Amino acid sequence: MDLMVNGQTHSVNAAPDTPLLYVLRNDLQLNAAKFGCGLGQCGACTVIADGKPVLSCVTPVALFEGRKITTVEGLGTEDSPAPIQQAFIEEQAAQCGYCIAGMIMRAQALLAQDNNPSDSAIRTALQSNLCRCGTHMRILKAVRRAANLMQRASAKGAI
Ligand code: FES
Ligand code: FES
Repeated sequence: MDLMVNGQTHSVNAAPDTPLLYVLRNDLQLNAAKFGCGLGQCGACTVIADGKPVLSCVTPVALFEGRKITTVEGLGTEDSPAPIQQAFIEEQAAQCGYCIAGMIMRAQALLAQDNNPSDSAIRTALQSNLCRCGTHMRILKAVRRAANLMQRASAKGAI
């Protein structure tokens, strides 16, 4: 089947019920999304499909044919990070880093819909993503910073 990931079409040979996460990591060598619980309970495996966050550890790859999947690798590069990545770096919003790809993707999906979310909207959006290191306050600050960066970028574009 064909999968569209980060703007590229990949032909993959996987059983239809294989979790998307396994295909991303094992077949496409896209290792940003993490295997945490494998049970849909921690959010470490979150990617974006057609603008919505999805838990790739419990969602069969067959459901993604014809959909646009984005992983952290598709956001920005080391030299040119996306605002959400820039903000996480500037706020040093990672301890072990295991939860961060999932946090970033869920925050990115939120900010794509609303680049000025309230604190409670950010908290609600990230509620299902667990961080074992207790980095929550820095993660929240990073999402607020990313919102500011995105607002400034869109204001510049409007001039
Ligand atoms: S690894 Fe998917 S929710 Fe935990
Ligand atoms: S930074 Fe370690 S789990 Fe979140």
